[in-house]
Amino acid sequence: MQRRTFIRLAGGGLVCTAAAAGAGAYALRSGYPAQAVEAWQGPSAAEADPRRRALAYAITAPNPHNLQPWLADLREPGVITVHTDPERVLPQTDPFGRQILIGHGAFLELLVMALAEQGFGAEVALWPDGALPAGLDGWDRRPVARLRLVPGGVADPLFTQVLRRRTPKSDYDTARPVAPATLRALLDAAGPSVDRAGTVDADRLPALRRLCWESAKVELLTPATVMESVHLTRVGPSEILRHRDGISINTAVPRIAAALGQFDRSAPPPPGSPAYDQMMARFRGHSDSAMGFVWLATRAQRHADAVAAGRAYVRLQLQATALGVAVHPMSQALQEFPEMAACREQAHRLTLGRGAPQAEGRPHPADVLPHRSSHRTGPGHATPTAGGLRRLRLVQ
Ligand SMILES: Cc1cc2nc3c(=O)[nH]c(=O)nc-3n(C[C@H](O)[C@H](O)[C@H](O)COP(=O)(O)O)c2cc1C
Repeated sequence: MQRRTFIRLAGGGLVCTAAAAGAGAYALRSGYPAQAVEAWQGPSAAEADPRRRALAYAITAPNPHNLQPWLADLREPGVITVHTDPERVLPQTDPFGRQILIGHGAFLELLVMALAEQGFGAEVALWPDGALPAGLDGWDRRPVARLRLVPGGVADPLFTQVLRRRTPKSDYDTARPVAPATLRALLDAAGPSVDRAGTVDADRLPALRRLCWESAKVELLTPATVMESVHLTRVGPSEILRHRDGISINTAVPRIAAALGQFDRSAPPPPGSPAYDQMMARFRGHSDSAMGFVWLATRAQRHADAVAAGRAYVRLQLQATALGVAVHPMSQALQEFPEMAACREQAHRLTLGRGAPQAEGRPHPADVLPHRSSHRTGPGHATPTAGGLRRLRLVQ
């Protein structure tokens, strides 16, 4: 029988649930509770198992909506088997699991880097028990990856950035352009497993910014897709601490609205409400202030390509961290739900110069998953954000 527990790797110790005790005390104080961001301290010095030490780094991986969809199974000695938690997926905005698998790719890359740091190589087998169906609704418990530890990993210079990396959820400084050499360094860091390109050309930015904003509006004004975000929104430190996932909002106006019972989780925020205005302003600000864009493309669109894109993406973001550049995915235009089809087409034309690989978000008969990640770059500072919150479910 499997014993599944929540574990808190950072700071040591095994706990049975994410701590919620005392959460109310944070009600209107600013800042995140220290417990909620403890993952960023790395593993406890007392932790001796190299797999658990590596997992303590891997759980900081960027991932969509900060769902942290990974489950790690350590029952086999010398092996880490990674599964997708079926409850931590995004059926509306990510019906083929493309974004979830990009997150898994980032997780695997950090896992491999953290094992290498301890002198272990990792033999990574994807879908060791067989491939999953294309659509998320057909996924079962088959593992995403099995990593077997072998002697002799080579330390990666980007590893020093792992605990410094964050996805800033703020506007960019439009007075500070990104240099072409910086763009090149980011693309180089992503590695050759995906096609990488980008632009910091002022003439190309307006169309890409507009696309980000137009596609954000489609997601936010489509009831089914915006509700996916509403359900995952954590307002104020007590909710943030209780869940340690999702989209965390810690600014005064929404916290007061939530405290007064004015943040309705059962329906999309109505136009004119503070929640609506804040949501729209956030996406508009992110879109309009982007100082450059990069995109990662794969030739095929299988699940393994999505994992490769995630491995490349986190490397790019670690390099950005090293260079003091803020990078933030804008997933909306690439999402596969039908209402997004026109933006998806436009995204492919603006970046790759060709149309989207499929119509209306439907997969080809084979295992086809569109997955190209477009990311904005701009000067910024890595600040603790929603991303600080981490939990890991471990099967042991
Ligand atoms: C595939 C993927 C898609 C993402 N899409 C978005 C997005 O559209 N908007 C956004 O604000 N953040 C997006 N993110 C960033 C996540 O929200 C972020 O990684 C998560 O909240 C954890 O925060 P951290 O990266 O600071 O650790 C995406 C991340 C991944 C891996």
